[in-house]
Amino acid sequence: MVHQKSSGVAGAGSYALGERQIPRMGYGAMQLQRLVNDRSAAMEVLHRAVGLGVEHFDTAEFYGAGFVNDIIRELRLEHPNILIATKVGAASNPAGPIPIRPAQKPEELRASVEENLRSLGVEQLDVVNLRRLDVAPGLSSEGDQIVGIDDQLAEMLRMKDEGKIGGIGLSAVSLDNLKQALPAGIVCVQNAYSLLSRRYQPLLELCEAEHIAWVPFFPLGGTYFPDWPKVTAHPKVIQIAARYRISPSQLGLAWLLHHKRNVLLIPGTTSLAHLEENVASASIILQQEDIVELDALSCAHEEASHE
Ligand SMILES: NC(=O)c1ccc[n+]([C@@H]2O[C@H](COP(=O)([O-])OP(=O)(O)OC[C@H]3O[C@@H](n4cnc5c(N)ncnc54)[C@H](OP(=O)(O)O)[C@@H]3O)[C@@H](O)[C@H]2O)c1
Repeated sequence: MVHQKSSGVAGAGSYALGERQIPRMGYGAMQLQRLVNDRSAAMEVLHRAVGLGVEHFDTAEFYGAGFVNDIIRELRLEHPNILIATKVGAASNPAGPIPIRPAQKPEELRASVEENLRSLGVEQLDVVNLRRLDVAPGLSSEGDQIVGIDDQLAEMLRMKDEGKIGGIGLSAVSLDNLKQALPAGIVCVQNAYSLLSRRYQPLLELCEAEHIAWVPFFPLGGTYFPDWPKVTAHPKVIQIAARYRISPSQLGLAWLLHHKRNVLLIPGTTSLAHLEENVASASIILQQEDIVELDALSCAHEEASHE
């Protein structure tokens, strides 16, 4: 039986992202790069998200080499009140073995902020996540791309003072670097985190104590790293979801929302049906005994790679 609060995105309440209080269910636009040849389908997903009450959109200039920022710009023209969080620290690399490359140097961060301002068509970026390369999964730094976080934050703070950035977030960051960054007034942290992948729990707890939004990427396990645990494939998740007559993805998202108050979600999808399902998970109430069972889940991958 599905236990529901009020319907839709408002069911899970709101939390602060910088200066603004927003519904806890947002939308991650990275998956829309798969629709680069079907702009109208991508726009339909974005429009439906707004129609469902989503206010928080996560993007990057390097998603689809500018395509995703361009459709978010179009959305923002129609809906000026949406909150856009973008990221710097990597850049498009269409000719490379993977389509992004590190861009960690302070001057590259500035160039990327300027590029985002241009491509999103705004005078200030609401939130900019400094995408570090401290922790898995994803790119790692070598040579002159190994840059200290203090030098990066000094440049980010200069751009904030200049009015180009509203709030500064961090992504793929280690616990030590997060602690070091706190005096800069961090508004959110994006590390990979899900029901089955909790290696960054200490960062989540530090964020909770500091009233910083925790915005996990790969909340369902993502698509690009086959070894990263997939929430929808876990037998216990499938079993409990069936009891509630909800999908395994809904259970995974609902668990995240129950887990900590400072969790803001940005699941990604190209599918209208999945989008509706994901938003509806904000209204699902899990019973305490099920939460306890889900809390206890661990997976071999997690234990093997624990840092
Ligand atoms: N800071 C960073 O470094 C960083 C890194 C990666 C991502 N991100 C952000 O985080 C967001 C979330 O990550 P993500 O999109 O990679 O991973 P995710 O949300 O864990 O998973 C997305 C995948 O799950 C599928 N999916 C979504 N909803 C579903 C549902 N209800 N039922 C079944 N399948 C479903 C999607 O496929 P369909 O299209 O078929 O639904 C897609 O393949 C991204 O969109 C991006 O904005 C940030």
